[in-house]
Amino acid sequence: MADTPGPAHPRPLRLEALAYGGDYNPDQWSEDVWDEDVRLMLEAGVNLVSLPIFSWPQLEPAPGVYEWGWLDRILDKLWAAGIAIDLATATATPPSWLLRAHPEMHPMDAEGHRLEFGSRQVYCPSSPVWHENVARMTRAMAERYGSHPGVVLWHISNEYGDHTSRCWCPESTRHFRRWLQDRYGSLDGLNDAWGVNVWGQRYTSWDHIEAPRKAPGPINPTQLLDFERFSSDAMLQLFQLEVDVLREVTPDLPVTTNFMSMFRDLDYWTFADAEDIVTDDAYPEPADPIAHVGAALNYGLMRSLKGGRPWLLLESSASATSWRDVNVPKAPGKMRVDSLQAVAHGSDAVMFFQWRQARYGQEKFHSSMLGHRGEASRTYRETKALGQELKRLEAVRGTRVRARVGLVVDWDSWWGSSAIESLPSQRLNWARQARAWHRAMHLLGQPVDAVRAGGPFEGYDVVLVPNLYIADEAQAAALTAFTESGGHVVVGPFSGVVDATEKVHDGGAPGPLRGLLGVEVDEQWPHADGVVETVDIAGASHENPAWAEWIEVVPTPPSGATDASPGASGRMGPAATAVIGTYSSGELEGRPAVTRRDAGTGAAWYVSAMLSEEGLSAVFAEVLGGAGLAARTEVDVDFEAVTRSSDDTDFTFALNHGRTPLKIRVPEGALDLVTGERTGATLTLDRYGVAVLQTPRDGIPPFLTLAH
Ligand code: GLA
Repeated sequence: MADTPGPAHPRPLRLEALAYGGDYNPDQWSEDVWDEDVRLMLEAGVNLVSLPIFSWPQLEPAPGVYEWGWLDRILDKLWAAGIAIDLATATATPPSWLLRAHPEMHPMDAEGHRLEFGSRQVYCPSSPVWHENVARMTRAMAERYGSHPGVVLWHISNEYGDHTSRCWCPESTRHFRRWLQDRYGSLDGLNDAWGVNVWGQRYTSWDHIEAPRKAPGPINPTQLLDFERFSSDAMLQLFQLEVDVLREVTPDLPVTTNFMSMFRDLDYWTFADAEDIVTDDAYPEPADPIAHVGAALNYGLMRSLKGGRPWLLLESSASATSWRDVNVPKAPGKMRVDSLQAVAHGSDAVMFFQWRQARYGQEKFHSSMLGHRGEASRTYRETKALGQELKRLEAVRGTRVRARVGLVVDWDSWWGSSAIESLPSQRLNWARQARAWHRAMHLLGQPVDAVRAGGPFEGYDVVLVPNLYIADEAQAAALTAFTESGGHVVVGPFSGVVDATEKVHDGGAPGPLRGLLGVEVDEQWPHADGVVETVDIAGASHENPAWAEWIEVVPTPPSGATDASPGASGRMGPAATAVIGTYSSGELEGRPAVTRRDAGTGAAWYVSAMLSEEGLSAVFAEVLGGAGLAARTEVDVDFEAVTRSSDDTDFTFALNHGRTPLKIRVPEGALDLVTGERTGATLTLDRYGVAVLQTPRDGIPPFLTLAH
């Protein structure tokens, strides 16, 4: 079948190299600086820049009066030098004249304050005036520059939701009501979904419904959840508006909007469906020695949002940011290892905010590729070196990460489990669970992809479900089918609790997952702050600081023909649930904490506690063993290895995120693309060192370990 554009066949990026460059703001400089910019960009190996992201007022200084000249000149200058353009639609922030003419366009916070001009992203996502003007500006940009040979990608808006992800103004409230009408059809439907008989909240008119604001007490949880869903959808609608205009005017150009890694407020699965290429802005905290672990989770999500296709790191920092309380610079070498980590995880780009460090405004202390000292700046020296190095890694472009472990990323459960009230405990929520579970798996040496709760799970051996507070039958069926065909599922606490309207499933948790897991939760049993209980697993005691559950192991019905044959445990007959870990202190002492039910040729684990990292590692090492996957026995948080593969070649990135050299075991005779030399049986990664080992593709990716 022809590879035509569409969700399954996104438009590709026309760039015959790993992309290297950054945000470029030529309109903050006089034109005589531009020639130097281009000269230094070329010297540094820059081949792609993003502009004009925040330049609407400079392009349309008065309604209908356009000043394209400066943009024409810089685009031509860049392209004449062979530098391609990620062209922004310039709709990231509105000009003052638009806001002054339409004060109702200002976003409103939950307390009813209109947010003022003087910063960026000053718009209500649902404003019809904003929509109309965004469509107009996008069309004007597309018509003027859509056929410019240098333009290879559309950069729609900028970091949706960075400053304004929710709006409580009257227009947003009307939009919220329309969204609810679409979802529930009738007021009866809404009243039923929201469970309004609790605390007397029956609605008798759509006009009575408000976006959730400060109320005397806890707010209806389904109202809160629907407002999260609505707000994400409202932003998606705004994004789709631009996508539609661009698809109409420039049907062959790919479109993107830059994400913000794991961002709570927007369901990126839905955004990724609407675009051609996933792009991400990543700012791991330089002062945090394990920030790279969180980054690995973020990058796993980015590559998974479009089924494993390469994504682009569109922004990162060469050194310090300027938006933290304290902005610690990146030590020499750190920018390189941070950048190559993104490439290791499937990015075909290393891009920065921004090319030239600003002299004025909100971001003048934010580092850039070219620092205030220009060519003499340290960041420029490191920028040049990295640009050269990326050329040596060209062979990895287009290849895909081979991960055997997927982690369920589910925005509904994220929103539902992190409401600020009406939950058993504020100490457990999806994000906290996801980070902890990812970290434990990461330390065992297995790269982790993201998967949707309903699958598909093909290609994975292990699926982690750190929390699935909101779960439905279809998700349970997909997870069950996965285990029955040999998959290994691990489900975390407080899962399968409620349905999509936040009604507790019949019989309580784990609701639709009961058959899969073979357990029932009698009561959630969070600990008071400061109380640390324990769980015993295989004779070792592990801390359990915040959450436990009173669970009962239950017999489960036979689940198809495979149940009559020996499972992984060698048992015959219907699968029983084995107790693998036991609460060993507190009121639940002696009761099951961790269980495993063999199903088909796979297994389904339930971890009812919020285990410490060691406890999780113990469980996950068992799971990996059962699934035939390797696990590191010696762990060093600084050490990471990820393999990207083409049809016939593996490229294994070995990264040292720390300052102490690491000696590792590697495939002998591999070509290290960084040094151009063949490896011995071991190699030493220096401080922030990176090796990229090229080997013929094998059944499973090389598994690198520490050597001593
Ligand atoms: C975000 C924005 C950029 C810039 C950087 C600074 O990523 O998209 O415009 O403000 O932050 O880190």
